[in-house]
Amino acid sequence: MLPLSPKTRRALLERHLERGLDGRGEVRAGHHNTNHILRLGVVPAVLLGSVPFARLKYRVPLATVEVVPRIWPWEPDILEVVCRYLREVPRCLAVLGDRSLHVYRRGRVLSEHNPDGRVEERLMRQFAAFFARTARVPAEALPPLPPDWPAHGDSDGFLRWLVAFTEERVHRTNRERFGALFTAVGIPEDAMDGFRRRHHGLTSRPFTLLHTDVHRANVVVRRGRITVIDWELAIYGDPLHDLATHIVRMGYDKEEQARMTGLWAEAMTRAGLPELTAGLHDDLGVYLAFEYAQSVFPDVMRAALALPAAAGPDHFRAAARRVARALGRAREPLRLVDLPDDDRIVRALRQWHARHGAAAR
Ligand SMILES: Nc1ncnc2c1ncn2[C@@H]1O[C@H](COP(=O)(O)OP(=O)(O)O)[C@@H](O)[C@H]1O
Ligand SMILES: [Mg+2]
Repeated sequence: MLPLSPKTRRALLERHLERGLDGRGEVRAGHHNTNHILRLGVVPAVLLGSVPFARLKYRVPLATVEVVPRIWPWEPDILEVVCRYLREVPRCLAVLGDRSLHVYRRGRVLSEHNPDGRVEERLMRQFAAFFARTARVPAEALPPLPPDWPAHGDSDGFLRWLVAFTEERVHRTNRERFGALFTAVGIPEDAMDGFRRRHHGLTSRPFTLLHTDVHRANVVVRRGRITVIDWELAIYGDPLHDLATHIVRMGYDKEEQARMTGLWAEAMTRAGLPELTAGLHDDLGVYLAFEYAQSVFPDVMRAALALPAAAGPDHFRAAARRVARALGRAREPLRLVDLPDDDRIVRALRQWHARHGAAAR
């Protein structure tokens, strides 16, 4: 390391990074960040204690609607712990204000070479092993939990917390801007209340670290082995929630769901954690239902927000298809009785767009 003060080192690094953002690098935009893939020359690499010209990911947060809980607001704090136990997870190398610089894992992102096709059993076994290893991260090593966090093993309390988050922070918070749209596409105002009333009495399972967003775009495959990236949404709670979000967001069919569930249970048992599988067959369905129910809000909002200012009929049709798909998935969990056809969804989106479209994003 060069004999420079931390302040000078930081200023130099910042200058090199900002120069790297001048449009030459590859940019990968997710829902929550813009990720600049950079290669840093000798000086900044030495400043970081990294290898010159290795690929790095510079993560710049996006201002977005809040749709998912973050109990640990700062990903580098989680990564610091996770990387000690899951050695393959790319490390955070430096923090610069609200931006951060990470190792970029070589390999292919699963969503790029297999966006929605079948997933081979070999990979499913690795997912199962990944969940077991995540579950073994000691709770004491994790950053502190929020004061209102449900007690360890209180699966009912955990589900209630998730439902309350969806209801208060996702649904209610956005009602002013999206309430008329939700109503017009057939989501009643008390939809989540009904869900809460219908689902309780879960079996108690020990809480563990959860990633909560293990889908194809967050998985890098190299030489047949997986690395799970993007730990921003990690939380601590009932492990069935992680399995459920994985199953839904991977787009597994029924047979794959059953296979993945079986492999997950086997991996937990093999890892000496059979108590995590208690009540699996009764309760997994509840978490699957929750995932379909909660995602109707972000899915509808994102479809509307993605409409360009000069949206034409094709844009509205495409947005309506996204909304219809989300409604179809939430129909049973939210007991939606008044599902609109595509024309009604288009009309609802047009009305929303006329009022809020210009101020969107
Ligand atoms: N370390 C990495 N190795 C390979 N690809 C990556 C890596 N980090 C990000 N990517 C690619 O960039 C995309 C967005 O990065 P991600 O960390 O998931 O951020 P976001 O929070 O925006 O989803 C990923 O879906 C993946 O395609
Ligand atoms: Mg991601």
